[in-house]
Amino acid sequence: MRYTERSRHAMGTNRKASSGANLDSCMGLSFGLQDSTQNTGRLTSNPIMSTVSCAPNVLGAIGNTPCVELRHVVPKDCARVFIKLEGLNPTGSYKDRMACSVIEEAERRGDLKPGMTVVEATGGSTGSSLALVCAVKGYNFTVVSSDAFAEEKLKTMAAFGANVDIIHSPTGKITPELIPAMRERARELSQASDHYYADQFSNQDVPVGYEGLGRELLKQIPEGIDAFCGAVGGAGMVMGVSKILKSHNPNCQVTVVEPASAPVITKGHGGQHSVEGIGIGFLPPLLNKELYDNALAVEEAEGRAMVRRLAKEEGVLAGTSTGLNVVAAIQLAKQIGPGKNLVTVACDTGLKYVRGDLYT
Ligand SMILES: Cc1ncc(COP(=O)(O)O)c(C=O)c1O
Repeated sequence: MRYTERSRHAMGTNRKASSGANLDSCMGLSFGLQDSTQNTGRLTSNPIMSTVSCAPNVLGAIGNTPCVELRHVVPKDCARVFIKLEGLNPTGSYKDRMACSVIEEAERRGDLKPGMTVVEATGGSTGSSLALVCAVKGYNFTVVSSDAFAEEKLKTMAAFGANVDIIHSPTGKITPELIPAMRERARELSQASDHYYADQFSNQDVPVGYEGLGRELLKQIPEGIDAFCGAVGGAGMVMGVSKILKSHNPNCQVTVVEPASAPVITKGHGGQHSVEGIGIGFLPPLLNKELYDNALAVEEAEGRAMVRRLAKEEGVLAGTSTGLNVVAAIQLAKQIGPGKNLVTVACDTGLKYVRGDLYT
C-alpha cells in the first residue's frame, strides 16, 4: 500500500489499510488521525481534509470511514454511543467491504478468472457493491433483485454495467418467500459455464471483508468498546466485526438486531417488513452463536422515526436499518450505563431512500 494520509475528522485512524490480509487492492486509503478529543470526547467541528496522494482506482477508497459520537438522540445517564459512518464508502454502503473480499478471495483461489460472469441475488446494496468491483476489475455481473427494493439501487447496479434480473414482489414488501426465490434464480443462472455465484448468505469470504471495520473501531475508540450492535441480513457485518472485537476484549457484548415484524432470530418465524437489507426470512447461515450474546427485535416504525431524528439532530443521513441499529444502541446504552462505550453502524447513506417514503 503506497497511499499517504488524508484526514477525515472524527475519531479517525492513522494507519495503513486495515482490511483483511488478502485484500491488497481494496480499501487502500489511510486517513490521518486528527484526534482533537484528548480523551475528552470533544471534537472540533470543522476538520480539514487534506488529500496527499491518490489510489490507483476507486477500490482504494473503500473503508477507513469516520466514527462519530451521537450526542443529541442519546439520553443522559447511559453509555456513550458511537456510530461508524459506512455511507461514506464509494457506493454509500458497508457492502463495498464484503464485495472486495468476495471477489478477491475468489480470484486468489482461482475460482474467478478474467472473462467470467459473477452472479448474485441481492436487494441492491450488495449488488451495487459487487457491480462496482466487477466494473473496476472487468468482470460481467448478473444480478437477481426485486422491485421490493429501492429503485435507486436497481438503477445503480445497471449504471455500473450489471445485467439486472427482477423478481416481482406483488405486495411491494420483503416477504419470507422473496429472498429464497431470488437465490434460487441466481443459483440457476450460475450453473452456466464461466459463472461464479457469489452467494453472499453462505460465503465465508463475506465476514472476512468486515474484519477491517472491526480493526478500525479498535483504533478509533482506544478507551475500549464495551458493546456493539448491528442489524442482521446475511449477518456478515456483525460476524466479521464481532470476531475482531471479541478477540480483543472477550467481554465485549455483541447484540444482533432484527425487525420486530420478522423475528426469525428472537422468535423463530419470519414476516413482512420494509427494512431493506435485513430480516431475510430465514436464519442466516453465517450467523455464529459464539459471536453474539443477545438478539433484539426493534419495531420498524421506531427505526424510521429514529432515521428522521438522526438526520435532523445529528446530521447523519442513513437508511432504515441504521434507524433500527440506533434504537437498539440506545436501549443497550441505557442498560450498560454511564462510563461505557457502545458502537453501532450507519449501514448506508440515506440518499438511496430520499425518493421513497422514509423521509416524508
Ligand atoms: C442497508 C443494509 N443494512 C443492513 C444490512 C445487513 O448486513 P449483513 O448482510 O452484513 O447482515 C444490509 C445487507 O444487505 C443492508 O443492505
